Amino acid sequence: MGILNHPVLGENRKEEITIFLNGKPLKARKGQTVAAALMANGIKKFGITRKLQQARGLFCANGRCCSCFMSVNGLDHVLACMTLAEEGMNIQLNEGDPDVRRDKNGN
Ligand code: FES
Repeated sequence: MGILNHPVLGENRKEEITIFLNGKPLKARKGQTVAAALMANGIKKFGITRKLQQARGLFCANGRCCSCFMSVNGLDHVLACMTLAEEGMNIQLNEGDPDVRRDKNGN
């Protein structure tokens, strides 16, 4: 899992935490972004596009492209590349791309 002992930056052994992707537990490191934690677990597909049903995932990795949005702890459209993983975090793949034009009552 990445560089553990860097000659300039020193040791990089941060506390291990557990996050959940669609209910499945995954190991992550405190201070890692959700996207980095998923990539470290071999998960590259974060959802699908609404129109063409194509896979979405990490693209710009700096909050510019919105390719990595996922549902995190019940909130839709959270950028996985800009959100730090936290213990017990619940992450959902956006397989159906929630309809952002509707309010919570479906109107
Ligand atoms: S990968 Fe572009 S906003 Fe997250």
